[in-house]
Amino acid sequence: MTSPSDLPNAPFDMSEDTPANRSENPTLGDVIATRLSRRDLMRGALAVSVITSTVGPLAIAAAPRASASPKAGFDFPEVNAGSDAMHHVAQGYDADVLIRWGDAVLAEAPAFDPAKPSGAAQDKQFGYNNDFIGFIPIDGRSDRGLLVVNHEYTNDELMYFGLVGWTRKGKVAGLTDEQIRASMAAHGGSVIEIERADGKWRAVPGSKFARRITASTPMEITGPAAGHDLMKTGADPSGTKVLGMLNNCAGGVTPWGTWLTCEENFNFYFAGEVAEEASPLADAYARYGVPEDYYPWDRLNARFNIAREPNECHRFGWVVEIDPFDPTSVPKKRTALGRFKHEGAGNIVNADGRFVVYQGDDQRFDYVYKFVSAGKVDVTNKAANSDLLDSGTLYVARFDADGRGEWLPLVAGHPKLSDFADQGAILIHARLAADALGATKMDRPEDIEANAKSGKVYVMLTNNSKRKAKDVNAANPRAENRFGHIIEITPDRGDHAATGFSWDFLVKCGDPAVAEVGATFNAATSKDGWFGMPDNCVIDADGRLWVATDGNNAAVTGRTDGLFAMETEGPLRGTSRLFFRCPSGAELCGPCFTPDLETLFVAVQHPGESEDEKSPATAEDPTTRWPDFKDGMPPRPSIVAITRKGGGKIGV
Ligand code: FEO
Ligand code: CA
Ligand code: CA
Ligand code: CA
Repeated sequence: MTSPSDLPNAPFDMSEDTPANRSENPTLGDVIATRLSRRDLMRGALAVSVITSTVGPLAIAAAPRASASPKAGFDFPEVNAGSDAMHHVAQGYDADVLIRWGDAVLAEAPAFDPAKPSGAAQDKQFGYNNDFIGFIPIDGRSDRGLLVVNHEYTNDELMYFGLVGWTRKGKVAGLTDEQIRASMAAHGGSVIEIERADGKWRAVPGSKFARRITASTPMEITGPAAGHDLMKTGADPSGTKVLGMLNNCAGGVTPWGTWLTCEENFNFYFAGEVAEEASPLADAYARYGVPEDYYPWDRLNARFNIAREPNECHRFGWVVEIDPFDPTSVPKKRTALGRFKHEGAGNIVNADGRFVVYQGDDQRFDYVYKFVSAGKVDVTNKAANSDLLDSGTLYVARFDADGRGEWLPLVAGHPKLSDFADQGAILIHARLAADALGATKMDRPEDIEANAKSGKVYVMLTNNSKRKAKDVNAANPRAENRFGHIIEITPDRGDHAATGFSWDFLVKCGDPAVAEVGATFNAATSKDGWFGMPDNCVIDADGRLWVATDGNNAAVTGRTDGLFAMETEGPLRGTSRLFFRCPSGAELCGPCFTPDLETLFVAVQHPGESEDEKSPATAEDPTTRWPDFKDGMPPRPSIVAITRKGGGKIGV
């Protein structure tokens, strides 16, 4: 989700109003002096992280130099950074819009008519704000498969004409009931079948796999918190059935072909006052930012009012597993993975067969988690994995000043978790349990992905302007961290289930030409190649890291968000190159490759948003009308398929 409020003209941030993590866990100004990046030390650059954070100008020496002829993992003509109404891709590549908000998903979908918002129509059409993309091959092919796409949230002001007086600071009170129904249907996700013929991708019309999932789709709650008293509502005394998923940001695809889709800022959908009988929950509500009262959905749905349904909010904030090959399958909220503001579900099969899911909780000062399954993945039998995500151990990360770290288990019986009634309560209030364990407060953990080739794990930390100098810690060393950083984790013995790890910085982001920023991109990075605010990422089949950004714009970094190719090995480590850039106002999400690396899908999210809080963009006055550029047509979040002219692997 776009969160530019860390930036000087910041208009809007879905995480802004949640109180900061108030636990006593070390932000530890006193450890900073002991932590020097081992890699920086090896390079003899003493102007490192910790010093950087408080004495910014000293940091300029930190960028390592490239050797004479290093071997690059990437090769393509770099895009010029900048900002305009169009998207731009590297020369020699095509970038074709595959599907837009409002396009048909189900065969019976009516034609998109932005002048007449309709919940019934939107139920059958591609939703808004495409975020995560997963490509799941059919019969192992790279030219035919299912595309699973998250629809994170709605920008009602950019979708609907006539919303006068919208301010970006609160809900759009003027929304009609039908607009609310359309927005609820524009949330969730889509499954489309796609194929490539004569070099071009298209959605297969009338596919038997086509499916829309919305804020109203019936779902099942599974795992240790299913049926817990905190999950029971008037409509569901069993505590096991819930309608819809909310604010699904990033996600993952499992080796058995299911889609993991992750609920992030669910608090924005809840309104009302804390009921008297729910007063013992007040601190927990506050820790999750409930009620945020941004979307006015409680007008049509009493369940979104916490005074009416104190537990409904506990049924959101989960990882949802969906079988996209069965449109009648009931999505499952997997409570063993914990409840927080999930960014994604980067996953890997451990050497011993257990399934490991790395997870960021995207809030300032929140945590990095991983889930390790109790059972093993059965790659030969899909059905054998159907309950794999219901049993296992959830861990939260502590990053120590000496470059080591530890995964702390969130399990009932732990002496520090004696205040929690049972495992269900620990998982429902995972943030509070992680507070009690002494996890490290991070600068907004977004995507986390494991590299199957190297065994290393990459953590995107997008930014945190609220971190004060006294609050810096070894792994989050910059006060007022406006541009974020990337941490590389190396599991002990290459074992993703191990509780010990070592860590280092891959890069501290921002403009390397501005000394105070303290960015550490490799000196081989061009003026176009640096970025701020890493968010989504993907590691391709060749083990190369691609980073998508959220929050760059003309006013802040002189460039829109985009997709950057990032070297992680050898003398070019820390070099970044711009491959694709967004139209104005958009964030880049969902980078996803076909297995043959010949197609890259990207999700252009919220094109046309404002870059200036003083002049909020609207459907009447967006910053771009991408991709249609037609009067009367709002900008439309869309999936773009990128291929090489004449065919071949991307970025080599
Ligand atoms: Fe929805 Fe953390 O981005
Ligand atoms: Ca987003
Ligand atoms: Ca983000
Ligand atoms: Ca994101």
